[in-house]
Amino acid sequence: GNFFDLTGSVSHPEEIAGRVRYVEDGALLLNGGHIVWHGDWKAAQAQLPESTPVEDYRGKLIVPGFIDTHIHYPQTEMVGAYGEQLLTWLKNYTFPTEAQYECAGHAAEMSQFFIRQLLANGTTTALVFGTVHPQSVEALFTEAEALNMRLIAGKVMMDCNAPEALLEEAETSYAQTRDLIRRWHNRGRLGYALTPRFAPTSSPALLNAVRRLREEFPDTWVHTHLSENSDEVAWVRALYPEHAHYLGVYHDYGLTGKKSVFAHCLHLCDDEWECMAASDSAIAFCPTSNLFLGSGLFRLQKAWEQQVRVGIGSDIGAGTTFSILSTLGEAYKVGQLQQYRLSAFEAFYHATLGGARALHLDDKIGNFDPGKEADFVVLDGNATALQQLRAANSTTLAEKLFVLMTLGDDRNIHATWVNGEPVYSAG
Ligand code: GUN
Ligand code: FE
Repeated sequence: GNFFDLTGSVSHPEEIAGRVRYVEDGALLLNGGHIVWHGDWKAAQAQLPESTPVEDYRGKLIVPGFIDTHIHYPQTEMVGAYGEQLLTWLKNYTFPTEAQYECAGHAAEMSQFFIRQLLANGTTTALVFGTVHPQSVEALFTEAEALNMRLIAGKVMMDCNAPEALLEEAETSYAQTRDLIRRWHNRGRLGYALTPRFAPTSSPALLNAVRRLREEFPDTWVHTHLSENSDEVAWVRALYPEHAHYLGVYHDYGLTGKKSVFAHCLHLCDDEWECMAASDSAIAFCPTSNLFLGSGLFRLQKAWEQQVRVGIGSDIGAGTTFSILSTLGEAYKVGQLQQYRLSAFEAFYHATLGGARALHLDDKIGNFDPGKEADFVVLDGNATALQQLRAANSTTLAEKLFVLMTLGDDRNIHATWVNGEPVYSAG
């Protein structure tokens, strides 16, 4: 097949085009779940014994597995809930849906559905919210482990401003989270993220519990929401007036830093951007969610100026698609509304190597460098009649990728490989 990926580190979007690696009629040599070699098919063929098993993807475009840096698995069944913005959407739709995950059987069934959706959309790594119930993440990790997926998840921690059925005591949250970390963190390819829902559902005692866990388990991730909606921002100011700003609440409780991922970040003040950059925290940009809930427009330009790492998030179920391809198409439109021109190369960067960098996993995933884990997607750029016509009328690689993000979705996923094994195949 034809291979596209991105290499090295970039500090400016204009540099990304120079980091493109494209091998036409290429080969990827795998061994034990890892990439051994990547290059020209004829050169590979000359060296390999004839008995080497070969998967032939001629005419297809193979890219690194997509990385979804913010998604809620227990909101899968409520995608597209009508008519509300964030706070009433949570109250009317989200909380009642998440309450169902007290049932371990439901969690197991939905975990299976969710993981299949990820793979059918070419997503091989995700940073995932569970619900407050430990059994929700237990079920998800069990499902991901069976496929050897590199997946990071956590039990939601929340102790106020939500229905009673979803609330817990800070001490219980601490103890249940610690048990889950001991069971699942670094088990195979799995990782644990401390997951306070957001500041409004976190008392000072709960945030202290998160801080203690981060101190005890410094290589776990922190995953939460930040500055998504104007009413939410005003509410946090009222709840936590002693902190400089919304991000300051998390920062003062020791929750910023490497491996901290903040979803949305639409209404940050300059001091918050400074804090984000100085602490080396990362952002999950969730365009379909931000448009669907009418939350606002993410400033990708500002993130580059501040040198803040950015990954792409579907944010199911406020987001409206599992497809990272479609999500990139919406990211482009969010850019357009602000005179920011998101190139296809930059878009694919955020969805692959950039996402890996946001999660501090770029030593393991994100491109085809030898030694990396063999997670990749085989794309069919001609999945529909319109795509065929449009592809026939595009010449450059940049244009072909741009058509994929503008017209593409799960129909373009021909196959998905995880850890060197095929885990999804179209048709
Ligand atoms: N803020 C707090 N909880 C949520 C959630 O479940 N979804 C979104 N989009 N924002 C949130
Ligand atoms: Fe979210």
